[in-house]
Amino acid sequence: MPVKGELLYEGKAKRVYRTDDPDHYLVEFKDEATAFDGLKKGTIARKGEINTRLSALFFQMLAGRGIPTHFIEQTGPREMLVRAVDIIPVEVVARNIAAGSLAKRLGLAEGEPLKRPVLEFYYKSDELHDPMINNYHIAALELAAGDQVEAMEGYAWKVNELLTEFLKPANLVLVDFKLEFGLHHGQVLLADEISPDTCRFWDSTSGEKLDKDRFRRDLGGVEDAYEEVLRRVERLCLNLESVG
Ligand code: C5P
Repeated sequence: MPVKGELLYEGKAKRVYRTDDPDHYLVEFKDEATAFDGLKKGTIARKGEINTRLSALFFQMLAGRGIPTHFIEQTGPREMLVRAVDIIPVEVVARNIAAGSLAKRLGLAEGEPLKRPVLEFYYKSDELHDPMINNYHIAALELAAGDQVEAMEGYAWKVNELLTEFLKPANLVLVDFKLEFGLHHGQVLLADEISPDTCRFWDSTSGEKLDKDRFRRDLGGVEDAYEEVLRRVERLCLNLESVG
């Protein structure tokens, strides 16, 4: 078992620890939830466990289909061993259907399918409240090299395709999601988490929201929604031998 060493980073939803191997970190998922730039705070029962399991399953599925990720193995109910990365301070958001900040900014009705999917970059900075940026800003601020930005874009499009198809038989629509990438010995790896905290999942029949919007918008049934996504994804994985 990896040894939990020095706490390297504590964010809103996770803690990252060093281990006895300089190439590996341990990520611990918390039940705490925040929204609106930290203004809204709360706890979602079992969120840490659910997001650990879901992230593990998604990362394994994606790794099996050619996306390099930081994930190594789940080491506890709310803990995973990952490759040590330096996070690139750029959040990559992919969108298939208008929702959230895009619907608001462009005056689109929430739920309107986009004619073609959209990718956006945001500068990861609490101080600046994660402003939206483009490739020019990334280059000007030297947040990532040109080939690293290309890699992030390519992986984000591929993840969008793979995850959208993967979730279809579970009656889940992938509305939008946010990815983070990190550098491990110079290689761009998909990092962070993939969960109802970072994706919008809608039931494809009822349109019911099964993600963090239930918390953000006080819709109730937050825990049940997270549990439901996990149940459906676990069922999918049981049916797919390729995912461990
Ligand atoms: O709020 P917005 O509509 O821009 O969010 C787009 C997607 O990115 C949503 O799935 C949301 O959960 C995710 N996101 C995130 N972390 C952020 C901002 C957005 O996971 N800091």
